[in-house]
Amino acid sequence: MTEYSLAVIPGDGIGVDVTDAAMTVLEAAASRFGFSLAPTRFPWSCAHYHETGAMMPEDGIETLRGFDAIFLGAVGWPDTVPDAVSLHGLLLPIRKHFDQYANVRPHRLLQGIEGPLRTDGFDILCIRENTEGEYAGAGGRVHQGTANEVATETSVFTRMGVERILRFAFGQARARRGHLTSVTKSNAQQYSMVFWDEITRALAAEYPDVTVAQIHIDAMAAKMVMAPETLDVVVASNLFGDILTDLGAAIQGGLGFAASANINPDRTAPSMFEPVHGSAPDIAGQGIASPIAAIWSGAMMLDHLGEAEAAAAVLSAIETATGRGIGVRPGSHSTAEITDTVLEALKG
Ligand code: NAD
Ligand code: IPM
Ligand code: MN
Repeated sequence: MTEYSLAVIPGDGIGVDVTDAAMTVLEAAASRFGFSLAPTRFPWSCAHYHETGAMMPEDGIETLRGFDAIFLGAVGWPDTVPDAVSLHGLLLPIRKHFDQYANVRPHRLLQGIEGPLRTDGFDILCIRENTEGEYAGAGGRVHQGTANEVATETSVFTRMGVERILRFAFGQARARRGHLTSVTKSNAQQYSMVFWDEITRALAAEYPDVTVAQIHIDAMAAKMVMAPETLDVVVASNLFGDILTDLGAAIQGGLGFAASANINPDRTAPSMFEPVHGSAPDIAGQGIASPIAAIWSGAMMLDHLGEAEAAAAVLSAIETATGRGIGVRPGSHSTAEITDTVLEALKG
């Protein structure tokens, strides 16, 4: 029987609830489809930071390297640990060190969910560059605390980084409806975004079967609300992709529905699967977090591991639940009720 080793990092707040819920579903899928999961749980989180002074041990990245995949809940507890410390101590280094340069975030209406907009045909795959751009960490503060203080945060775009994410996105568009929308802000950002646009145009010649639209991030925000059904695959830089995918989540009906995969397409290191949402301190501990985003992310992990049939069954079980009205609105059902309904549906 094939066994997949999983590093499971529940993290903080609702990250723990949704990870536990998703793991029960994934285990059920494994036994139904004849493979097994070997999860190792890592307590790396803000609580761990309080205990040890670090979000993960010094050799944390090396420890994770040997796993087939990483499954993560959410990181951050801003009341006690500054976000810049917690996220730069755990989530962001994993994405970067493992070259998980393609952050794949599907947005569509699940069965039974209306969402805040009236739209048919809303089905977007957002491809977010995940290792450089605005998250490069290049910058600093000088004259700190004085009236002359200056803070800089330099975006870094490399030809290799931009080309590889665009090629990945063109490939995804080719496998879907053949339309790619590249999002920049090249009317204001004259270096990095003009560079991105140039590379997009150059690569477009290699993908004649894909139609390409180039749009500015501000116009894109409006388009996603006014006409999301006109979009297929969307590619954007790290920060723009971050913002657009919370918007995508909102159009889906809420953060509890948005799944994501941090993919290393070359498979030189493990990929990581996690919901788009964070630790949701406002609802943590109440048992009402939606596990759907985490379960869907788990389905994306099964697909990545080569268990496409199990992945499809998990997604279909989610939609059986939502189709019956379970978990269709934030807080409408408990985490446990939604998980149990998905588990029941998964029995087939
Ligand atoms: P958040 O995503 O945690 O919450 C935003 C809103 O969405 C809240 O009202 C929350 O209740 C709701 N929500 C989120 N997930 C939900 C779910 N599964 N079911 C129902 N409602 C849900 O964003 P935030 O409040 O800005 O961030 C909280 C903490 O999480 C911060 O420390 C932030 O940095 C961190 N964060 C981590 C990740 C990650 O680990 N990938 C992602 C986003 C934010
Ligand atoms: C996400 C999150 C992270 C990001 C934060 C927590 C650093 O918002 O995964 O979307 O910006 O990438
Ligand atoms: Mn985000």
